[in-house]
Amino acid sequence: MADFSLRHLLTLDGLPRVTLEHLLQRAAIWRHTALHGPFDATPLRGRTVVNLFFEPSTRTRSSFELAASRLGATVLNFDMASSSTRKGETLADTLYTLEAMGVTLFVVRHAADGAVAALAEVCAPTSSLINAGDGRSAHPTQGLLDMLTIRQHKGDDFSRLKIAIVGDVRHSRVARSDLHALRTLGCGEIRLAAPPALLPDAAISAGCRICATADEALDGADVVMTLRLQRERMEEGLVASLEAYFRDWGITPERLRLARPDAIVMHPGPMNRGVEIADAVADGPQSVIRAQVSNGVAVRMAVLEALAGNGQ
Ligand code: NCD
Repeated sequence: MADFSLRHLLTLDGLPRVTLEHLLQRAAIWRHTALHGPFDATPLRGRTVVNLFFEPSTRTRSSFELAASRLGATVLNFDMASSSTRKGETLADTLYTLEAMGVTLFVVRHAADGAVAALAEVCAPTSSLINAGDGRSAHPTQGLLDMLTIRQHKGDDFSRLKIAIVGDVRHSRVARSDLHALRTLGCGEIRLAAPPALLPDAAISAGCRICATADEALDGADVVMTLRLQRERMEEGLVASLEAYFRDWGITPERLRLARPDAIVMHPGPMNRGVEIADAVADGPQSVIRAQVSNGVAVRMAVLEALAGNGQ
């Protein structure tokens, strides 16, 4: 059997297709158990996983905690608010401190691009790191759970699919990881739609069809991904008003009618309801937003399992 163990998961960029597909297959196998049990799997027994989140998180942090504990690990949720990082301790010293306590698996989210990769350069040979989101760069487990959700609803052949990514692509690490995975899986057409100030650089959007309007992006689409307007990563004034943004780029029931009747609507969360998505769409029959969340636990189990081979 091929060896699919991984040392770290920092990005989906350059991850071989066989590895990506293997992780998706393992996640599909875990999907039911991840939510309904039995919770008696033990591939991580005797291992300690730490959640090191330097930015807020609801879904990612909770699902990593559930995934690790469902694989038999001890989980430490590092409390940033009361930690010594507040006293100026560096990220690397925080890592060394936790390594000295026997932690070998690190789930790290940080506001700086490249922060997790930099830690991976200095960690012990027995440590493995998972990037849970760094700046605008990458969010590989979100990319994987989005691919799993698309497969669940649209099948494995991505070459037939038209996927519209609408909204703040410029500041989105989710969009970057989705683009890496969609290209690797051979997606038929990727459309990007955003006001010009929120479109990414040409290097990021290479090979994508840039749409001038949300309507153009949604026309005949199989999958509509919308993104949070990420005001914390944005210079002032990129968006004139939230009302105008919703009018021009918001996914409303009227706009969604332009997509295929069986199109699915995705959002990584947290949602700004009434800004990038209407309530009636977020809670409507085409929304798979909660399926994305459920798939997040299974995907993180698959990733932790692949990393568990390191450092035994
Ligand atoms: C995203 C993130 O933090 O990158 N959320 C998530 O992990 N599901 C998206 C966002 O913040 O908009």
